[in-house]
Amino acid sequence: MAVTSDSRRIPLIAGNWKLNFDHLQSIAFVQKLAWVLQDARLDFRAVEVAVFPPFTDLRSVQSLIAADHFPLVFGAQDVSEHDSGAFTGEISGAFLKALDCTYVIVGHSERRAYHHESNESVGAKAAAAIRHSLVPVICVGETAEDLEKRGAAAVPVEQLAAALSGLPTGADIVVAYEPVWAIGSGQAATPEQAESVAAQLREVVGEALGSDAADRTRILYGGSVNSGNIARFLREPNVDGALVGGASLVVDEFAKIARFQNHVGV
Ligand code: 13P
Repeated sequence: MAVTSDSRRIPLIAGNWKLNFDHLQSIAFVQKLAWVLQDARLDFRAVEVAVFPPFTDLRSVQSLIAADHFPLVFGAQDVSEHDSGAFTGEISGAFLKALDCTYVIVGHSERRAYHHESNESVGAKAAAAIRHSLVPVICVGETAEDLEKRGAAAVPVEQLAAALSGLPTGADIVVAYEPVWAIGSGQAATPEQAESVAAQLREVVGEALGSDAADRTRILYGGSVNSGNIARFLREPNVDGALVGGASLVVDEFAKIARFQNHVGV
């Protein structure tokens, strides 16, 4: 299958806040982010900007964005594979959809590592997201040990194939390639590695969901992204955005990342 840059893929710059910001801090942050981006005349038709706050912030973020018509979207950091029932502490995709979430992150490496999420449960969560018309942001990535033993792509390819196995043809998803060793380390992957793995992940999407889905699906890079390296990743034809952790907590830095098109030539 040919892998090419597709103009239908609007770049997605996504901020994963992880366990940071309560609902009051989230309001202050989103307000400032929208103002900074609007002041800078960011063309929101050319780049989509999303934030992923903790669950308890979602209602506040929803209300603010709706009331002020901010051109920002948002999602949750996790979802239950179940829709309802006796599952203490879980959050249903139905509840997230009712709060106007567009996206939900599934299978982040921190959940795989600290909450023992398997490929099967990540697949079930992705399926739950699709059932509730949420777009799952399916995270995959290799550890330093995987990289040494099997190269960069083997584990991400396996993880993605497993996560997609129960999804319908043509399902609307986003993939985030996040090498575990690059997360929070200050040491990002090279753009060449991100491109090579992203191209292989696109093949996996094509095999599982069909060639139209492969062309449409945005594949993000994540792991120590900042305003100084974002433009180099986005120049790669198969990298369609970024999932940003630490740098997404600083308004001006995250806004600069969203404005990567201003420094593509850098
Ligand atoms: P950092 O940008 O802090 O490396 O985190 C990346 C990440 O895990 C986003 O989901």
